Amino acid sequence: MGKLNIVMTGGTSGFGGITAKELINNPHTRVFLGNRNKEIQGAEHIPLNLNSLENVRSFVSEITKKIKPKKIQVLICNAGLNHPDINSRTVDGFEMTFAVNHLAHFYLLRLLMPYLDTNARIIMTTSGTHDPSENAMVAPPKHANAIWLAYPEKDKTLDEKMTINAQRAYSSSKLCTILTIRHLVSTAEAKQNNWQCIAYDPGATPGTGLLQKGTLFMRLAWQVFTIPILRKRMLPKSNSIQDAGITLAYLALGKVEVPAANIYVALRAGKITFPLPSKLAQNDTLMQELWRDSEQLLLETKFILK
Ligand SMILES: NC(=O)c1ccc[n+]([C@@H]2O[C@H](COP(=O)([O-])OP(=O)(O)OC[C@H]3O[C@@H](n4cnc5c(N)ncnc54)[C@H](OP(=O)(O)O)[C@@H]3O)[C@@H](O)[C@H]2O)c1
Repeated sequence: MGKLNIVMTGGTSGFGGITAKELINNPHTRVFLGNRNKEIQGAEHIPLNLNSLENVRSFVSEITKKIKPKKIQVLICNAGLNHPDINSRTVDGFEMTFAVNHLAHFYLLRLLMPYLDTNARIIMTTSGTHDPSENAMVAPPKHANAIWLAYPEKDKTLDEKMTINAQRAYSSSKLCTILTIRHLVSTAEAKQNNWQCIAYDPGATPGTGLLQKGTLFMRLAWQVFTIPILRKRMLPKSNSIQDAGITLAYLALGKVEVPAANIYVALRAGKITFPLPSKLAQNDTLMQELWRDSEQLLLETKFILK
């Protein structure tokens, strides 16, 4: 049996770094990481900055030159950021959080679909912040309108407070992740090839780089909560970086028994759970509109899907 070709974004730091190391330590894998400047020993690195669709395209072109046989068994889209405002734009002119967390990964997925093997696993990292019932300390999404999220100046639901808008940009991008996975499952390619498609929610995982652009208070609290006793008391459903990373690796390697109908896997207090995602995430109309509008945004910027 040949080695599993694993392609991963967001494997160079945060809990994704733990995931990547676990995957590399498995003798049956070949791990390709999209990277900006950091490297993980034992992985094959290919430059990738998700703030540029051209960069996504060149990443895919490099990957497809390197993999032999030309098939990917595991695709992990874990990279993500939490921008403190909605003013930043990618080189393609889209709002940064939406574009990096959703649109660039959507493009990556679409370009790599022809290379995904039979029984491939596709895992995209989402977040409990997408669901109002989680009562996360982040404003939940109001919609998954790709055009409004890409161009916030068009969004009729913007709040007066910039911090709320920034939180919503993040939680909405993670809602988009679940809708994308749900749509992927419904495609002919996924059905014919028996792909396993998972939206992985690592739960609150303090100590990663996710809040690096937050206020000093947020950054300090994020570090303080890495002390296990404080984390468990103040954020009882949260997880350690180690647990969040290893769970993602186990999902990638097929070591987690995911019930057949489930696409949403959430880690809560170190335990793997299979809750239903939010009501918006279960909405089929939103799911179809997001897929269509994301394609439209790519076409507008002349990024074709082949
Ligand atoms: N921590 C949490 O509480 C939590 C909860 C729910 C969901 N999540 C999600 O989990 C994932 C990992 O987050 P984390 O907490 O481990 O954060 P992190 O430490 O900041 O890691 C983020 C990863 O994404 C990569 N990345 C960010 N922007 C990128 C870009 N423009 N191009 C390419 N790669 C980029 C980073 O690359 P570099 O190594 O180059 O910086 C890093 O590998 C994210 O999708 C996040 O939204 C986190």
